[in-house]
Amino acid sequence: MKIAVLAGDGIGPEVTAQALRVLEALALPDLVLFEGDVGAAAYRRHGHPLPPETLAMARAADAILFGAVGDFSCDDLPRHLRPEQAILGLRAELGLFANLRPAAGFPGLEHLSSLKPEVARSIDLLVVRELNGDVYFGDKGERESAGGREGWDSMSYNEAEVRRIAEVAFRAAMGRGKRLCSVDKANVLETSRIWRETIIEVAKDYPEVELEHMYVDNAAMQMVKEPGRFDTIVTGNLFGDILSDQASACVGSIGLLASASLGERQTEHGTFGLYEPIHGSAPDIAGQGKANPVAAVLSLAMLLRHSLGLEQQAGWIERAVEGILDDGVFGGDLGGSASTGDIGDAILSKLQTMS
Ligand code: NAD
Ligand code: IPM
Ligand code: MN
Repeated sequence: MKIAVLAGDGIGPEVTAQALRVLEALALPDLVLFEGDVGAAAYRRHGHPLPPETLAMARAADAILFGAVGDFSCDDLPRHLRPEQAILGLRAELGLFANLRPAAGFPGLEHLSSLKPEVARSIDLLVVRELNGDVYFGDKGERESAGGREGWDSMSYNEAEVRRIAEVAFRAAMGRGKRLCSVDKANVLETSRIWRETIIEVAKDYPEVELEHMYVDNAAMQMVKEPGRFDTIVTGNLFGDILSDQASACVGSIGLLASASLGERQTEHGTFGLYEPIHGSAPDIAGQGKANPVAAVLSLAMLLRHSLGLEQQAGWIERAVEGILDDGVFGGDLGGSASTGDIGDAILSKLQTMS
C-alpha cells in the first residue's frame, strides 16, 4: 500500500506531521510512504507548484495525504504558477471529481460552535461537492472593456458531469438519512438549470431518497438557522467550497473538518483518493504551533477507510479525536491553549487505549 504525502505550505506540514505520527502509531504492515513537493515550496524548488515528479508519485500511489497549499509571496505570480494550481491540478489530472466533506457536531462541544448550542447540537451533514468543473475550470481571462480591464470566468456543467456527482450523492444519501438537498442558483444561472434538471433525472433511480432543491443563498441562511434540516447536500464546485467552510464554523472550527476527493479508479482495497483538511495554509498562524491538526488526522481516517479498506483503524482514530475533544484538549481556534503537538500527543495517547 503506497501513500503519497504532499504536505505543502504554511500549516500544511505542521498538521500533516501529526497525522503521520498517528499513522506510524498504527504500525500498519506493507505500507510505504513517499513524500513530494507541492505548492509554493515546490515552486521555489522546481519552478512549478505541481512538478511532474510529484504528479507521477501521486498517480502511482493508492492514496494521497495532502496538507495545504498557498503563500502570499506567490500572489503576484501568473495564475498557472500559483500554489493553488497544485491542488486544482491534482484534482483535475487524477479525475477526483467527488469531494466528500462531512460536518458533524462533536457531542458535548456544542458551546464551541458559532451557533447557539441547541442549534449546533443538530448538525450532522455531508457536503458532496463536485470538484472537476464549474467556474473553477471554465475558460477565463482578461480583456479590455469600456470600463477598463475586465476579468472574466465562464461557468458551466454538462449533463454527464452532473450525473456522475449526482450518483455519488444519491448513494451517499442512501447510506445516511436518505434526504438529499441539491443546492444551486437555478433562478438565475443556466448552469444551474441543467444541474437541476439532471439531478431530477437521476433521482428517478433513487425513489427512497427524499430530494429537495434549494437556492444557494437560502441554503447559506438555512445552514446557520437550522443546520439539522440537512442530511446530504450535493452542489457544484464553488457553492460547495463556500458552504463547507461555513459548515465548519457551525461545528466549531475549520480546523476540525476533513475531506476525501474521490474518482472512479479502484485500488486493491478501495477507491483511489486524495485526503485533505478543508482549511488552507493559514499563513496568519503558520510556524507558531497554533494549528489544529484534527482536520488532518481525520483526513487520514478517511484515507484508511476509503482507499485502504481499514475501517477499524479509521474508527479508532475518530474515537481518539472525539475522546480528546471530550477531555477539553483545545487549541486556540476553540478557545484553548493546546499546541499542534499537544493535540497530536493527546490523540496518540488516546489511540493507545484502543488498538
Ligand atoms: P485558511 O483556511 O488557510 O484560513 C482561514 C482562517 O482559519 C485563518 O484565520 C486561519 O488561521 C484559520 N485556520 C485554518 N486552518 C486552521 C487550523 N487547522 N487550526 C486553526 N486555525 C485554522 O484560508 P485563507 O486564509 O483564506 O487562505 C490561506 C491560503 O490557503 C491561501 O493561499 C488559499 O488559497 C489557501 N487555501 C488552500 C487550500 C488547500 O490547500 N486545499 C484550502 C483553502 C485555502
Ligand atoms: C479548498 C480550497 C481550494 C478550492 C483552493 C485553494 C483552490 O479553498 O480546497 O477548499 O477552492 O477548492
Ligand atoms: Mn475552500
